[in-house]
Amino acid sequence: MTVTQYLADWRPYPFEIAETRLEFDLAPKGTRVRSQIDFRRKGPGDLVLDGAGLRTQSLAIDGKPLDLSLISKDDERLVVPASALPDSFTFAAEVEIDPEMNTALEGLYLSGGMFCTQCEAEGFRHITWYPDRPDVMAPFRVTIRSDKPVLLSNGNPVSRGQGEAVWHDPWPKPAYLFALVAGDLVAIPDSFTTMSGRKVELNVWVRPGDQDRAGYAMESLIRSMKWDEETYGREYDLDVFNLVAVDDFNMGAMENKGLNIFNSKLVLASAETATDGDYERIEGVIGHEYFHNWTGNRITCRDWFQLCLKEGLTVFRDQQFTSDMRSAAVKRIHDVQTLRARQFREDAGPLAHPPRPDNYQEINNFYTATVYEKGAEVIGMLKRLVGEDGYRKALDLYFIRHDGQACTIEDWIKVFEDATGRDLTQFKRWYTDAGTPRLTLSEDWQDGRLTLHFRQETAPTPGQPQKPPRVIPIALGLIGPNGDEVLPTTVLEMTEASQSFTFDGLGARPVVSLLRGFSAPVTVAREITADEQALLLAHDTDPYARWQAGHDLALDALIFRATSGTGGAEFGQAIGGLLTDAAADPAFAALCLSLPGEEEIATTIAARGGVPDPDAIRTAREALAQDIATAHEAELARLYDAMETPGPYRPDAEGAGRRSLRLACLGLLTRIDGAARAQVLFNSASNMTERQGALECLIAAGKDTEALAAFAQEFGSNRLVMDKWFMVQPLRATPDQAVARARDLAERADFDWKNPNRFRALISGLCANHAAFHAADGSGYAFTVDWLMRLDPVNPQTTARMCSAFETWTRYDADRQAHAKAALGRLAAMKGLSRNTSEMVTRILA
Ligand code: ARG
Ligand code: ZN
Repeated sequence: MTVTQYLADWRPYPFEIAETRLEFDLAPKGTRVRSQIDFRRKGPGDLVLDGAGLRTQSLAIDGKPLDLSLISKDDERLVVPASALPDSFTFAAEVEIDPEMNTALEGLYLSGGMFCTQCEAEGFRHITWYPDRPDVMAPFRVTIRSDKPVLLSNGNPVSRGQGEAVWHDPWPKPAYLFALVAGDLVAIPDSFTTMSGRKVELNVWVRPGDQDRAGYAMESLIRSMKWDEETYGREYDLDVFNLVAVDDFNMGAMENKGLNIFNSKLVLASAETATDGDYERIEGVIGHEYFHNWTGNRITCRDWFQLCLKEGLTVFRDQQFTSDMRSAAVKRIHDVQTLRARQFREDAGPLAHPPRPDNYQEINNFYTATVYEKGAEVIGMLKRLVGEDGYRKALDLYFIRHDGQACTIEDWIKVFEDATGRDLTQFKRWYTDAGTPRLTLSEDWQDGRLTLHFRQETAPTPGQPQKPPRVIPIALGLIGPNGDEVLPTTVLEMTEASQSFTFDGLGARPVVSLLRGFSAPVTVAREITADEQALLLAHDTDPYARWQAGHDLALDALIFRATSGTGGAEFGQAIGGLLTDAAADPAFAALCLSLPGEEEIATTIAARGGVPDPDAIRTAREALAQDIATAHEAELARLYDAMETPGPYRPDAEGAGRRSLRLACLGLLTRIDGAARAQVLFNSASNMTERQGALECLIAAGKDTEALAAFAQEFGSNRLVMDKWFMVQPLRATPDQAVARARDLAERADFDWKNPNRFRALISGLCANHAAFHAADGSGYAFTVDWLMRLDPVNPQTTARMCSAFETWTRYDADRQAHAKAALGRLAAMKGLSRNTSEMVTRILA
């Protein structure tokens, strides 16, 4: 049975809660949960509570037993009629649950013998009867009884005795922010003194033996706390902050009040086991979850349709944090790459939805790139339109006006209107309309006057055939033919379907440096010659636009090769120029040197109305890389040596930049040196960044047998490092071997597929190998679906999310489409398919 939820159906909850008291007697089987909830009537209506998979022992109102027949047939609802309720009352329940059987990892479950919880979005109903909706907020008092040595919940500790701990969280919160942890854990302790002088106890909790890899997480937490005070004036509000690493986790991490729970891969790091990318993500996600304390917890969402209210804003904040901690230019380019790869792809296919959707079947399917990353882009646009000052004023007002409330996107927009006096009616379309606008530029040049004609169009998306024009902030500059900037960054506000802007008094015809800083999440169509792109790549003052020029040059060359055979000379030449002073800005040079991926090439071909051929794309990309390597061998070899990072490993932006350039050079050189350098680096590198980089090169070159064995020998007992080993093989193997390899790996005893990290490593590794996943014989699709069918009964959430590998299936040729459709059809027809996966498959096939 599928039930669709609609935004339009939201009604206020008729009760508020003065306090929620919970008592847990923990056991792998038969955990007892006793609850007492003090309700007060606010409006008319029955008392409706949510539950899922609970063995209800007793129910009572003010001590008087309630009949268990008030529970619905499907066991998911408990309705006490209004007539049976006084205006204030205490509801009490006693239920039993089995954490040990909880493989879906939603609610209370066991991970490696440790009890832990995940309640967002609707996991609390798996713990006890409750109004499991974000607009019902309450202070919580929690008693945990267990023989585990460490017992944690939200808020401040009240007592920590033998076998029992009591926690009190004074800040009213919705149930999705509840958390409990009980296990054999050790802490990395530290403290932080807030800007008003309060001392906060900090702990990063890990399994014994992992302490030496938890230091970076603690440093990141302290940096986050300081940054939020300095940048947003936000102070932490409890006496303790606990952060726990768990091995079995469906997502990245969770911002439970005062007790953040993290996937261990986003906590544990050492030079030998984590890459530069891992370090950057750890810092970013620790920031993200910490920043939720204000944007998400103190101010939460009224309903799940408003998810981007907290996620878009918190992603935006974590992006700012990373830019401040590292390189703003590199961070922006990374973010644009991610947005294009994940969100543009989503927006162009059957799963397209607005940042604020107005209907869903399973909310867990909406923790998407659109809600998160596009949600952040929309805030970036807002900030550009109202300016730094306006943004700061609006945010200050938001925190004052809405502290303690559950809010909507309308509240958010109103704050900007009130703080700045701007009318944002049209801007709101960015929240309610799906799809990526296509911005077309044509130019007129006459007598020192440049006229820019812009058009915007957005293709229809599911359920939204009409797309009225949006406000598009277009940041641009002008670069003269000699490379000088003749107009610094200027923001044009486009509000119509087509609109022209004029620049007068120019000496010679300049080249437009368009969409600086990627000022709006749009695609661009314009006429520009390879020479003009090369000019921008050489001289643009905006790092994003400069990178984009080179990237477009490469993309055009690749598409030309993939569809008609030759091309790429200009890009090869431009790269030559870039390599000469690459050492001055290694991270930037590395970004320019890495060719657009196969997936992006396919996306671009499809967007231009073509049918991408995965094999031709692969061949074209390999050939261009080969040409570049051959043409620039000496320079690449020189840079490879120059980018060695002497001394002990440091995970900072500078070192990471040098290593990324070094590995970009290695990827090219491996094609012509018989993988000699990769072999040497693999054997000599003392950090995982270079180790993994070299291993990937060896796999691509087909010279990996010994390296893989050595790697497994060395890291066999480290789950996180072995996830890398499982991931890089299907990802980097040549397309003719990748599926067979994935199949072999799946047979291994250590392919612990019930662990989401391990499952994703192998299966998503294959899905990300474009030519292998889209193999002409359909073997990539079939293998993926076989495993999704196996996982669905065990873990619907992770299965459903991974269905998005298929969201582009209609782009490809008829034979591939037939294979994809057959595979998806098998999944759709599976008996007992979860609601999560069923919604995804139905939408993908629609
Ligand atoms: N709020 C978390 C974050 O973005 C994500 C948790 C989502 N979990 C889920 N099962 N849908 O930080
Ligand atoms: Zn978040």
